Amino acid sequence: MSSKILITGAEGQLGRVLQLRLGECFEIIPTAKSPTRMALKNRNVRQMDIIDFNSVADCISAEAPDIIINCAAMTNVDACEKDHTSARKVNAEGVENIIKAVDKKTKIIQLSTDYVFEGKDGPYIESNPTHPISYYGRSKLEGENVLRGSLNPYCILRASVLYGDPVNDKPNFFAWVYDSLSKQKLIHVVTDQISNPAWLPALSDAIMKVILLNAEGIYHFGSDDHLSRYDFAVLIAKVFGLDSTLINPVTSDSMSFIAPRPVHSGLATKKITNELDVLTLSTNDCLKMIKKQILVV
Ligand SMILES: NC(=O)c1ccc[n+]([C@@H]2O[C@H](COP(=O)([O-])OP(=O)(O)OC[C@H]3O[C@@H](n4cnc5c(N)ncnc54)[C@H](OP(=O)(O)O)[C@@H]3O)[C@@H](O)[C@H]2O)c1
Repeated sequence: MSSKILITGAEGQLGRVLQLRLGECFEIIPTAKSPTRMALKNRNVRQMDIIDFNSVADCISAEAPDIIINCAAMTNVDACEKDHTSARKVNAEGVENIIKAVDKKTKIIQLSTDYVFEGKDGPYIESNPTHPISYYGRSKLEGENVLRGSLNPYCILRASVLYGDPVNDKPNFFAWVYDSLSKQKLIHVVTDQISNPAWLPALSDAIMKVILLNAEGIYHFGSDDHLSRYDFAVLIAKVFGLDSTLINPVTSDSMSFIAPRPVHSGLATKKITNELDVLTLSTNDCLKMIKKQILVV
């Protein structure tokens, strides 16, 4: 299969892992709003700002990709709540710009989130009604809807709480817990936000399957267990031999979140497992694999 794949937001946490994984089989064109790194095989990451139509159109016409994976997003949930205009520009209008710039044969794979749901009675299946409670969720849903209304072949992959490397210059929940506990810092972690986190290499493998099987439509991905942020933090402490007494259980109402958070969220993964034969792992197993990698390096 000789597909040329353009990745937006390729310097974000998913984009970086995805470049490496997909680069094993495909020609990858990594793009970023303000490239700072060298990509695989020492080629430069191309500049592409998805809120600037000319930048999107120039890059796409120069590269003519068969598939675009849109990892670019404004992902800070509280920042989105404070600045609706910027959130909408990136998470919804950015998708529109990509659709306008490509021909109708180009497949678009869009990353989305469990925040499109109300988050009261998860885990959610793909056909459950959406009802975002935060502006991040609203803007991501709008991005999904723009794509669903387009003529392009598409796949929307929803995931929740992405995590990967503990040494990450854009900290995720896992990296923050690992780093804080390693430095003996006390942390406050909520007991009332439940989901099934997605380990980045496993999510990248799921995206690989979407490409290889030419899957279309909406799929949910995550671990095969559902746990609160507090339980996730305690598991991190256990697997990495860190001090779990430094994790202080709190409820969301005691935290100063700007955007409301889904409490009982999570994504059911039966469809992606049954239809695409995607393997889902327990969070415990994913953490153990990270530990193994750290010991090898
Ligand atoms: N993080 C999570 O827990 C989570 C959970 C569920 C779903 N998702 C979804 O998964 C996808 C990947 O998330 P992630 O965690 O990898 O996010 P991330 O680390 O925040 O990466 C997003 C990337 O998009 C870039 N970006 C922002 N505005 C852009 C623009 N106008 N044009 C081009 N690039 C732009 C960012 O660049 P700058 O850093 O320079 O702004 C960043 O490199 C997103 O669609 C997100 O909504 C994430």
